[in-house]
Amino acid sequence: MPATTPASSTPAASAPAFSALARSAPEDSRRLVVTSALPYANGDIHLGHLVEYIQTDIFCRAHRSAGHVVTYLCADDTHGTPIMLRAEREGISPEALIARSSTAHQRDFAAFGVAFDHYGSTHSADNQRLSADIYRALDGAGLIARRTIAQMFDPERQMFLPDRFIKGGCPKCKAPDQYGDNCEACGATYSPTDLISPKSAVSGATPVTRDSEHHFFALSDSRCQEFLRQWALAGEHLQPEAANKMREWLDGGLSDWDISRDAPYFGFEIPGAPGKFFYVWLDAPVGYLASLAEWCRAQGEDFQAHTAQDSKTELIHFIGKDILYFHSLFWPAMLKFAGLRTPSRIFAHGFLTVDGAKMSKSRGTFITAESYIAQGLNPEWLRYYFASKLNGSLEDLDLSLTDFIAKVNSDLVGKYANIASRSAGFLRKRFAGRLLGDARTEEPGSSHAELEAQLARAGALIWPAYESRDTARAVRDIGALMDAVNGYVDHWKPWELAKQEGQDALLHRVLTTTMRCFARLTILLAPILPATAQRVAAEVFAGSTLNTEGPWKADMLDAPPVKQVGEFGHLITRIDPAQLEALLAANRENLAPLAAT
Ligand code: 2FM
Ligand code: ZN
Repeated sequence: MPATTPASSTPAASAPAFSALARSAPEDSRRLVVTSALPYANGDIHLGHLVEYIQTDIFCRAHRSAGHVVTYLCADDTHGTPIMLRAEREGISPEALIARSSTAHQRDFAAFGVAFDHYGSTHSADNQRLSADIYRALDGAGLIARRTIAQMFDPERQMFLPDRFIKGGCPKCKAPDQYGDNCEACGATYSPTDLISPKSAVSGATPVTRDSEHHFFALSDSRCQEFLRQWALAGEHLQPEAANKMREWLDGGLSDWDISRDAPYFGFEIPGAPGKFFYVWLDAPVGYLASLAEWCRAQGEDFQAHTAQDSKTELIHFIGKDILYFHSLFWPAMLKFAGLRTPSRIFAHGFLTVDGAKMSKSRGTFITAESYIAQGLNPEWLRYYFASKLNGSLEDLDLSLTDFIAKVNSDLVGKYANIASRSAGFLRKRFAGRLLGDARTEEPGSSHAELEAQLARAGALIWPAYESRDTARAVRDIGALMDAVNGYVDHWKPWELAKQEGQDALLHRVLTTTMRCFARLTILLAPILPATAQRVAAEVFAGSTLNTEGPWKADMLDAPPVKQVGEFGHLITRIDPAQLEALLAANRENLAPLAAT
């Protein structure tokens, strides 16, 4: 775990005050193009995906709040054999399949507040053009090798078979019905030709071996190895754990990467190689650039300015640690030798477990985004929970259902929303909802002024946590600020002041200070809880110009423009454990019929 800063600590003297950070924009304003990994078009979005998209979305929102200019891009990853075969099974075209997925994926992301600036598709004209351009540039640099290799071929279906589409007995433990690359029973890895009685999972036919010419990206070329060593190990492009992994791979020597597949294949045909297609992993990351190109065209921005080797734009990829290999080896080398800028940062995260175990369809813990929404659960509960667990490392993250309930109910309802609900009613009843001004100017030196000052300077404490993706720390530090505000309310006991004669001025001051601090807590939480923050601005402080989305201008945190408190309903409700039981039941697949077959 990275070291953490206790909430009570004073920001280091050398750390710029947040207000200074914000005020110095735009000179200090950074230009960021940020991506999340492109989801496959043949699967539903599930909570495992959402860890990454929520993490990236919080990062983008926080950076915008700090005055930086961020473009958040994604797309569907649409090519390859599984998508081709799935469409065939469903009796539809791959184009129809990917169109359906794109709609469903974008619906799910929007429901969880994941706000892309553009959502593209790898099956696009821009992606075809860019993939071909990159390939030609690599070929021109002498980095495309052509070699004939032998592969398993389905004689009935007349297609080469990826390893996952060949099944047979494990050569080691003899377990039947294992995939062509590894055994799920004993964990052995092998080649499909080693399987006992291999069969094509597509047609059931016995595969044969057949030769075919393939195109390879020559990663073994010393230029690639030298570049990658310098790129991965010299700068800060990778997290330390990822850089260590790279060192291991580089020390082991790199092999050439097979980037072609034979027809039939759903993808882009390789220029000058009829019947040969780019392997899906060649054009998938190019999809980041294609999405950028589409966004640039729509916005009238200069694509070259963001993609040239000397570009000032930062290119930041969020990924799962399972696809580090593709992003830290193949992708930077492709870009470098195609004359394009290389990624500035690759931020990998760990896997999601539920109650300490791998997500499982039989236990109902393989939870789809759609089912979560359909069961009426609040997406911001999950955003908050994931934020409270993510610390910027590659560690796996556990969604413990009891902890989820406890954390949301105690932090968001018990501590955060409660601050507003216990003060707003009195303010409306006794003072027509009107707020006083800042205690620092109206009652300097008082404990009210002290609390306002503590919250007003909190940006300097919280921003570094957001910047370093240590949202667990941001949540802890904001939680400590909530405790401070609740402690203040408990100290002054407005419910008792309200009953006492002659205490109106003090009561008004306490309620005002509480609500002004609540506005600041909302601004600090807005990257994590954007929908709640918007409701607070629109309903709790109706009629004010409170901007919770940023930029976190100095005056927004220092002097939130709140003058009036309006009527509002529950900002966040408690999680009822029965809701989670219903969610698991909705996702539980009854495997009995399968076992019986
Ligand atoms: O692993 C996956 O889900 C891939 N679809 C990610 C692709 S990311 C990028 F390279 F396109
Ligand atoms: Zn085995």
